[in-house]
Amino acid sequence: MDRTPTGLHVGLIMDGNGRWAAARGLPRTEGHRRGAAAVRRAVEAAPGLGITTLTLYAFSRDNWRRPPDEVATLMGLMESFLVRERANCRRQGVRLAVIGRRDRLPPGLIRAIEETERATRHGTRLYLRLAVDYSARSAILAAAGALGSAERCDETGFLQRVNRACHSDPETPPVDLVIRTSGEQRLSDFLLFESAYAELVFIDTLWPDFDGEDLRRAIEAFRRRERRFGAVPAEIHPLPDPVAGPSAR
Ligand code: IPE
Ligand code: IPE
Ligand code: MG
Repeated sequence: MDRTPTGLHVGLIMDGNGRWAAARGLPRTEGHRRGAAAVRRAVEAAPGLGITTLTLYAFSRDNWRRPPDEVATLMGLMESFLVRERANCRRQGVRLAVIGRRDRLPPGLIRAIEETERATRHGTRLYLRLAVDYSARSAILAAAGALGSAERCDETGFLQRVNRACHSDPETPPVDLVIRTSGEQRLSDFLLFESAYAELVFIDTLWPDFDGEDLRRAIEAFRRRERRFGAVPAEIHPLPDPVAGPSAR
């Protein structure tokens, strides 16, 4: 379950819109507006870097705690993003899905989600997941709650259930790399089950300034990492027998 079957699955925590705006004396909502352009840059750069699944954290369950006008702006921006980018996604072979809860979203946004998912369903170049009203803990809880008490399920089967619980394609692979912008170094309830062996890259760029070059550098850092999945590196020989000691080799 922890191997990469095809391309990479990258999770991106798009953080720093508010600070970007504050640094310019602008309202936070202006940072969110500029952030939408950065999403497009990331999506355009991803396939060329070997990414086949890209999950973007757009709005967390806990972001409902923000002021109502900021929440309303974010909902409006996500709706117009989905409508505007629909044709682009189709052209670029992007299959778009929104993961998370839907029942608390405004009706216009729900319609935009459903129509964009339908319009882009045949895309094969990139599976783009936008996490909206998303909480990893909620998804895990929902998947566990749906398991009957007598039911047995291995980790791959459980991952499929976690995926289903948040409206994702059940076959979405685990995450290889999580990138967070803005210098914060935490996961904030993002893909907790799926990122068990993900590499983590934290970069200082604020999300509205993020571009293809930032993504390329993060992938380069990822490629330099040695993923072990609990095993030992291939070139290291087995340790000597602890009883016999090194002389017995
Ligand atoms: C990320 O930027 C966007 C969302 C969480 C919706 P923030 O709005 O969190 O920006 P900062 O962290 O306050 O700078
Ligand atoms: C996480 O960012 C959610 C998104 C990027 C959408 P936050 O800015 O909400 O996270 P915290 O509150 O700093 O942990
Ligand atoms: Mg933030």
